[in-house]
Amino acid sequence: MVEKGILGCFILCLSLTSVCAVRGTLKSIDDLKDIQFGHTFPRHGLMLLHWLANNIYIDNNGNMRLNFNPTSGDNGFHFYGNRPPSLPILHPESGSYYSLGNMKRNGSRALPYYVTRRFYNSWGPENNRDRVILRVREDGSNQFIADEVYVTQHYQQNENRGSGYDPANTNRVNVSLLRQIQSLPTIDQNDIPRIYNVEINHNSLQELEKIWRHTPGLALLLAIVLYFTRPKTLFIKEQALRLTSLPQSGMEDKDNALIKLGVKTTDRGKARIIWSGIPKRLLDQGVMVMLYKSNNSDSKSVLDRSSVGGKASGSYNTSVPLNPGLQVRLHKEVKSWWNYLGCGSTIGEEIWRGSEFHDANREIPVDINGHDASLQLFVKDGKACARLYVKKSFTAWKKTFNNSWVGFYSSEGTLDYNTWQWAVKFSEESHSDWADIPGYDVYVYKSSMTMSPGVQVRFMMEKSGGEKARTPPWERLVQW
Ligand SMILES: *[C@@H]1O[C@H](CO)[C@@H](O)[C@H](O)[C@H]1NC(C)=O
Ligand SMILES: *[C@@H]1O[C@H](CO)[C@@H](O)[C@H](O)[C@H]1NC(C)=O
Ligand SMILES: *[C@@H]1O[C@H](CO)[C@@H](O)[C@H](O)[C@H]1NC(C)=O
Ligand SMILES: *[C@@H]1O[C@H](CO)[C@@H](O)[C@H](O)[C@H]1NC(C)=O
Ligand SMILES: *[C@@H]1O[C@H](CO)[C@@H](O)[C@H](O)[C@H]1NC(C)=O
Repeated sequence: MVEKGILGCFILCLSLTSVCAVRGTLKSIDDLKDIQFGHTFPRHGLMLLHWLANNIYIDNNGNMRLNFNPTSGDNGFHFYGNRPPSLPILHPESGSYYSLGNMKRNGSRALPYYVTRRFYNSWGPENNRDRVILRVREDGSNQFIADEVYVTQHYQQNENRGSGYDPANTNRVNVSLLRQIQSLPTIDQNDIPRIYNVEINHNSLQELEKIWRHTPGLALLLAIVLYFTRPKTLFIKEQALRLTSLPQSGMEDKDNALIKLGVKTTDRGKARIIWSGIPKRLLDQGVMVMLYKSNNSDSKSVLDRSSVGGKASGSYNTSVPLNPGLQVRLHKEVKSWWNYLGCGSTIGEEIWRGSEFHDANREIPVDINGHDASLQLFVKDGKACARLYVKKSFTAWKKTFNNSWVGFYSSEGTLDYNTWQWAVKFSEESHSDWADIPGYDVYVYKSSMTMSPGVQVRFMMEKSGGEKARTPPWERLVQW
């Protein structure tokens, strides 16, 4: 049960200026069953919560150390003010609220595909309704700590209640719930009924495990939360039925649920299309992978394409320079006389979308040792680029970094840079998601070096040596 306040369901916090209400506190996965958050397709709340639990470290005091920088805009986090109507008012010294889950923000491209796939493969506002909110403060050493977490949702569009979050569907999350999610991959399945108060249907769990096999613990989370909130039909059957009755049939039905599409880097700075999990039914019909400039591009602007050649998984190196926003889509192949004449501009029905390509490594910028600044590697037009985040309070940075430079290296092992630039010659970034990060100024430099897997940038204090930071090599993490 969701813990209830004394006066029915609302814990009220009153002040001179506003009334805020949080419905209750969720202490276990069991409690997630009682709320709407993330329950129906295509809502993404449970994926967000799973991602969060797996990207924090919870210490003995229940504080959460974040493996990411919520202030940088990456992963789609954005500043949510200190006095939002749906949450307790915050004194500035106790931190700030940051909201996670708006998939329309470019930074959300950094989230793994299991979080974004529903968004790109469904239509309508439901796929972008859920949010997770963190109350964040920075400890002395550039570490971000969250001491409170909330789950919430936007009002339904037809409620005409604006773009705020709905307080009646805002719940606080106790760390004990996040700990439970962290422990799901290693739990003994015989303990599930006792701990989570559900009977697991092992057939449906197996189906879910197939779909979410690359994301340990997610299948079990979905099975526990959603099992009793549905009629007592087999969950997967029920889901499949419901999904095929959606206007865009074929979206996240059981077959397509295994499809993965993505963009990686060739050794020439070009986009490399990768795909996997294409069902036999589609391979038999003939399907193609196509590269689009972004999710908003229509079929007139396909940048490159290739047949999957009967292969359920594979890759194709395009000649398109890497840029943020690139998206792979799977289409049916059209075999017409027109195509045989070499005028094959006809495009078959769209089946599935990958997420948009994110321009940076999925890792937080690395700290420049001993200074309030950090360094990130990213790609633009196929070239390796570097981004410097400088804390606004570090006013003397130009003086301090007067002789500092950023070197571009082809791999972790090499001592010889390919090209370099003075830190103070970086140009200020003004028009992007990264430009208005509270407390930071952002500077960028686009090098002449072609991006390829393994590329790394390093920050050097002096002309010779004095390394203060190095980024992880490009695509070190398998983003799949
Ligand atoms: C992606 O495209 C679909 C359909 O074209 C659209 O409904 C959705 O809002 C788009 N998402 C973004 C982030 O642009
Ligand atoms: C979480 O729950 C535990 C006990 O269930 C309680 O001691 C603790 O204060 C709660 N933490 C928060 C932040 O509410
Ligand atoms: C495609 O690019 C990858 C990464 O650079 C490379 O390993 C592979 O050999 C390339 N394949 C072809 C067919 O050129
Ligand atoms: C460092 O400072 C000196 C003098 O203050 C100046 O001449 C030089 O150009 C500066 N270096 C860079 C890279 O700006
Ligand atoms: C988001 O990415 C698109 C390219 O895909 C770009 O045109 C747009 O300017 C970006 N928005 C921000 C705020 O950076």
